[in-house]
Amino acid sequence: MYSTTRAMLTRCVVHVRRGVSAYGTFGRRRDGSRPLQQHANKSAVGGGTARTRTLSHAHAPKNTADVSSGVFLGSGALNAGARVEVNAQTLVLGIETSCDDTAAAVVRGDGVVLGEAIASQAAIHGPWGGVVPNLARAAHEEAIDAVVAAALAEAGTTAEALSAVAVTCGPGLSMCLRVGVRKAQKMSAQYCLPIVPVHHVEAHALVARLCAGTEAVTFPFLALLVSGGHNMLITARGVGDYTILGSTLDDALGEAYDKTARLLGLPVGGGGGPALEKLALEGDPTKYKFPVPLRQRKNCDFSYAGLKTAARMAIDADIGGGDGDDVEWDGLDKRQTRADIAASFQAKAVKHLEERLKRAIVWAREDTPDLSCIVVAGGVAANATVRSTLVKIAEDADLPLVFPPPKWCTDNGVMVAWSGCERLALGLAESAVDADLERKHETMDPRDIHCNLLPRWPIGEKDSRATRENIKSAKTARIADPLRGADGDRDISGSSVRAAGIE
Ligand code: KG4
Ligand code: ZN
Repeated sequence: MYSTTRAMLTRCVVHVRRGVSAYGTFGRRRDGSRPLQQHANKSAVGGGTARTRTLSHAHAPKNTADVSSGVFLGSGALNAGARVEVNAQTLVLGIETSCDDTAAAVVRGDGVVLGEAIASQAAIHGPWGGVVPNLARAAHEEAIDAVVAAALAEAGTTAEALSAVAVTCGPGLSMCLRVGVRKAQKMSAQYCLPIVPVHHVEAHALVARLCAGTEAVTFPFLALLVSGGHNMLITARGVGDYTILGSTLDDALGEAYDKTARLLGLPVGGGGGPALEKLALEGDPTKYKFPVPLRQRKNCDFSYAGLKTAARMAIDADIGGGDGDDVEWDGLDKRQTRADIAASFQAKAVKHLEERLKRAIVWAREDTPDLSCIVVAGGVAANATVRSTLVKIAEDADLPLVFPPPKWCTDNGVMVAWSGCERLALGLAESAVDADLERKHETMDPRDIHCNLLPRWPIGEKDSRATRENIKSAKTARIADPLRGADGDRDISGSSVRAAGIE
């Protein structure tokens, strides 16, 4: 029964449409908010077969948590938190600066992507072997205006015509998040736009609903997020309503790929995963008997630090060079040994993913039998071995598998804009930033401007079956409350997302 659906979902057809339309400005309410219904007067954007999708009361996901965003980037709840109709006339700008990509996109409420732009910082951080927060902030500051302008231009629209601006306010590097949030606040005040605070990890998961369709990726679904900064399995019951089945106790898989690739002397600009994957094709995955992580723990948590150490020890013993920086890659020296280590590392890394996903399906079905599908997102989802392994698991479980296309698996503006659409529809948006206050900000030292950032913002509570004693970041750092009621300490300036273990 699923074969057709699965084939359709695995291909994950994405509608990308560009259109030009002259939009006028719209009336404003006394509180500065813009009545969204007025956008019904706009001419439709683009031509062709736009996917019909209206995010309104009738189509609200079931089991949606009754959440207030509780973030306050704007001037309080939009229209007292009332749901609004979000449809083909709604235009949302999304801004993403949580880590090392400056990204923006304009997405229509019915899921049509009108324009997107991204400035990657891979070349800046590559030589350092990881994201350097100060450099990242400076690069965001330099790029943000141009990236937003490019997204608007590609969409053939202007800021005046937007319905709302959505922005990632956590989790991530606070000094980077600040750049995006300040840009969004300025635009909100200048153009009287509602502002939608977006959770970065939620956005990674929700973009699958844009790609495959809200009618295919219905709540509840299971999501595996696996990138350089995130490694978690969650049950998604509704927008803002998530349970963490498992997360990493130390490194994320992408991070382990990156570090191991560097130790192997591979080029890691833009992430070491693709280079390691390529080399692994030449290797014997059974040559090195690395351990499959966390076998003794029958839960859904991940750990990649031990596997990374095992690979490092093999490199030290059989290739030499010690800390990796000394291992020069000339393409020839001990190439077979390097390939065997790469293949053996990848085999066990993917085996660990496989075991955890299988258990997560069982766990999720115990209390959520009606899962619609499995969503996989994050940069590591581009890996062919990962893909083929996960396809098989989904088939065995008789669940469709949704991979957003790689450019929307990695950090991007589309996921933020779409998440903004979903939240806006549910009334999880805030009124425009007060223009007088924003004028005052212009005369202040930017560092003194109060900005409600959520660098550590759990997407939800941990499942009761998950490892309790290993929420190490909760013990050692200040953490905001989960997504459904963010209200915790907010600023941990200067820490690195990956170094700090934020998922
Ligand atoms: O989602 P993403 O762009 O950024 C975040 O970390 O949030 O993911 C980047 C990560 C990097 O660690 C990169 O090495 C990894 O995804 N990656 C891969 C592959 N392509 C990207 N890992 C393994 N195999 C790949 N083909
Ligand atoms: Zn991400």
